[in-house]
Amino acid sequence: NPTARIRNFSIIAHVDHGKSTLADRILEKLGAMGERDKRDQTLDTLELERERGITIKSTPIRLNYVRDNGESYVFNLIDTPGHVDFNYEVSRSLAACEGVLLLVDASQGVEAQTIVNAYLAIDNNLEIIPVINKIDLPAADPESAARELEEVIGIPAEGAVRASGKSGIGIPEILEAVVERIPPPPGDPAAPLKALIFDSFFDAYQGVILFVRVLEGTMKAKDGVRLMNAGKNFEVDKVGTFSPGLVVGEELSAGMVGWVAAGIKDIQDAQVGDTLTGRDRQTDEAFPGFKPAQPVVFSGLYPTDTEDYRKLRDALEKLKLNDAAFSFEPETSEALGFGFRCGFLGLLHAEIIQERLEREYDLDLIATAPAVVYRVTLTNGEIFETQNPAEFPTRDRIEMVEEPYIKLSVMLPEDYVGPVMQLLQERRGAMQTMNYVGKRVELVYEVPFAEILYDFHDRLKSISRGYASMDYEQLGYREGDLRKVDIMVNNEVIDALAVIVHETKTYSLGRKIVDKMAEVIPRQMFPVPVQAVIGAKIIARATVKAYRKDVLAKCYGGDISRKKKLLEKQKKGRARMKQFGTVEVPQEAFLAVLSTE
Ligand code: GTP
Repeated sequence: NPTARIRNFSIIAHVDHGKSTLADRILEKLGAMGERDKRDQTLDTLELERERGITIKSTPIRLNYVRDNGESYVFNLIDTPGHVDFNYEVSRSLAACEGVLLLVDASQGVEAQTIVNAYLAIDNNLEIIPVINKIDLPAADPESAARELEEVIGIPAEGAVRASGKSGIGIPEILEAVVERIPPPPGDPAAPLKALIFDSFFDAYQGVILFVRVLEGTMKAKDGVRLMNAGKNFEVDKVGTFSPGLVVGEELSAGMVGWVAAGIKDIQDAQVGDTLTGRDRQTDEAFPGFKPAQPVVFSGLYPTDTEDYRKLRDALEKLKLNDAAFSFEPETSEALGFGFRCGFLGLLHAEIIQERLEREYDLDLIATAPAVVYRVTLTNGEIFETQNPAEFPTRDRIEMVEEPYIKLSVMLPEDYVGPVMQLLQERRGAMQTMNYVGKRVELVYEVPFAEILYDFHDRLKSISRGYASMDYEQLGYREGDLRKVDIMVNNEVIDALAVIVHETKTYSLGRKIVDKMAEVIPRQMFPVPVQAVIGAKIIARATVKAYRKDVLAKCYGGDISRKKKLLEKQKKGRARMKQFGTVEVPQEAFLAVLSTE
């Protein structure tokens, strides 16, 4: 069996449970470069990713492991993104493996992401090797952590390996467990080609580079191939493996993990989850579970300086080259002028794109509050989807509105169950299950996605003193009694500030927005009214008080450095303002709906 000496696996864990550190240690042990060095040298992984300490793009690596008895193995370690926005990518990366190391921090125990990730592995029929990590910590309680895994996920506690990525304890045991417990990949190299795309990136010279797991068959340069879901044919230029970086090879055959360049120009044609097969000799069925990348959170992005419109469009096009999950289309706002409606996988994805536009492309942007996609049935029977509150129809035209729901899992110490349940109730959540895990509780709720988009995670963390963790998956659409709240500044509706909100919350949200706006809009020579309205009805009102003294008057003349700072601050602030008549509205005001307090 040609694949008997191959092991394809991944490491999954809750954020901060030590995935990167353990991966580094394994790489070091097997004579490869540390994960972080590798990232610096190979695929140009995002600077942001490093700064934020989360993995966004998965980069596989190929390692050689020689057992004490001299047997040599090839390990393909497939990294997975560490955030719920990218859970589909995680599930496809796992589909490329036969097993996983499931890490649990011995001082923290099972967390929400541990559970969700474990189920992704179970759904893919993977062998799970539980690893109780960070056992060097004084607060480590490996017994409890192992017991929790057994109770919550049903993974036998005695199979758990105890390890520390920091001190290196347990690394040899982990490597042996990979060989012994994870099965070699199945598949017939002579069968028609069937390869799963689990990631891709755009290279200016070679076009889209696909990261693939070959399930059946063999592929080499000059072969004609077909992307089954995209329905497009290509010719293979090069294939290879990761070692680290892209190493050109002769061929890829069943069981192997590697990369393919096939002159693919558009990343939309090469989506994660699609199946690559032979152009002339096709496999019977595509690999199951393909989902086209689908943005679920939308926000308007506008240049603060209208001159920058083209620059913004060019930048969006460049980012799009490398990101099939990101979408944009031109949009016009009465208030903000020409900009783009952009679609993202979640809030983190949105933040990453915005930060990249600002840092790498040097753009100053106004971003409107993120919104989900609503499905509206009109009284004339027509159904349309909208992710732009400004386009939401008036009430007399609406028969029914539906909004996306998620299944949310929260893991928390039992002391905080009361307040967290109350928070979930406020967010229109419906409890599905409640499981005790030692002194902790797992709550599963169905909640409207829009309710957790804004400040939910921060609120959850603050009321649980940082102890609660969460993860979620999309559920589909449900009916909701939703209204559009418009915001007026100086008696004019600013379309880009409109929000969609549940009927029970229009007053409280309207209040919050106008108060926040009155706080952040700079004072004028005259008082400026800020109002929240539904149709013609005013539901909340606040006033930006008239301007009194020069801002520098506060400085008593003497302190030059302070004066400078203040002026600089003003200048910076001004860069992110939009002028409405005589009133300047800063970026912060557009996100007033997101503010906590
Ligand atoms: P994401 O990439 O965000 O998912 O995080 P991660 O799971 O990769 O965690 P990472 O390896 O970055 O470690 C998180 C923190 O835990 C860091 O501060 C590490 O130094 C620390 N850490 C990781 N492994 C160990 C360990 O075995 N023992 C101790 N004491 N600390 C560890």
